[in-house]
Amino acid sequence: MTIRPRRLRGNDTLRRMVRETRMDKSSLIYPMFVKEGNDIREEIPSMDGQYRYSVDCMGFELERLLNAGVKNVMFFGIPDQKDEVGSGAYNENGIVQRALREAKEKFPELYLITDVCMCEYTSHGHCGMLCGHDVDNDRTLDLLAKTALSHVEAGADMVAPSDMMDGRVRAIRTMLDQAGHTGTPIMSYAVKYASAFYGPFREAAGSAPSFGDRKTYQMDFHNKREGIKEALLDVEEGADIIMVKPAMAYQDVITEVRKVVNTPVAAYSVSGEYAMVKAGAKLGYIDEERIIGEMAVGAYRAGADIYLTYFAKEIAKMMDEGKIG
Ligand code: PBG
Repeated sequence: MTIRPRRLRGNDTLRRMVRETRMDKSSLIYPMFVKEGNDIREEIPSMDGQYRYSVDCMGFELERLLNAGVKNVMFFGIPDQKDEVGSGAYNENGIVQRALREAKEKFPELYLITDVCMCEYTSHGHCGMLCGHDVDNDRTLDLLAKTALSHVEAGADMVAPSDMMDGRVRAIRTMLDQAGHTGTPIMSYAVKYASAFYGPFREAAGSAPSFGDRKTYQMDFHNKREGIKEALLDVEEGADIIMVKPAMAYQDVITEVRKVVNTPVAAYSVSGEYAMVKAGAKLGYIDEERIIGEMAVGAYRAGADIYLTYFAKEIAKMMDEGKIG
């Protein structure tokens, strides 16, 4: 035998030398829930170890994040009032806007990203304003753009639209540019599937649709070419970063998208992925840390440049300890 693959597996130093996938803490983004009210730090029932924080309590978590070496955070807002048109989303004193101002002031070294969507703010739980029983795409665009602008004016460094309306990246880019925010990047949830993996998130954010589902705007998970179409369209509209979501069951999509776009690609390991790992570990069926590592490396190996995960602190620690990366 002249070719023996095992030769390169002989010891740990060698295995590290020949690693094909290299990761870095700087590419991790931690999603975090901020909630209207005071003195709130409540654990999310289906997401052990993840909390909803009121603005006065979130500093605790942001500090832990910075101590772990993670500088990128993405805010999701949980308002105390909802209405038909989700006006809390673009209220300058809304929950995300207040959290942004506080975080910018107290933790200037953090990079603040916001999820731009209506579903947490609408009484019906859909991602835009309704016309009959369906989301009115074109009339929703203006509300999304206003939401993005209000986030940027409150201190967001980057906005991430997750609504899946057609044309929203262009609408947001146009409104940001008109207001002089030409340098604020947009990370588009471009390839977002209608997925049961978002279940725990909807419980966390109270954003489940009150009727129907999201299948008229989020993608059918049988489709991959359609994901390419969405990704290319968003690049054309001005997206700076293209996201694929969920991550674990969609690695083929990450790989394909990576081949066709020249922007960085982000993969979002969503709430259901987190919940499954936590539940499996609690039952003693899996080794939590090693599973977290494999999931993260899997996303990067598939082609992701950026990884959004509720396990950001744990992954950062594993990188520090040389277990992955
Ligand atoms: C808002 C939004 C959702 C997620 C991110 N942004 C929920 C949804 O689309 O229903 C899911 C994140 C997660 O599950 O971790 N539209």
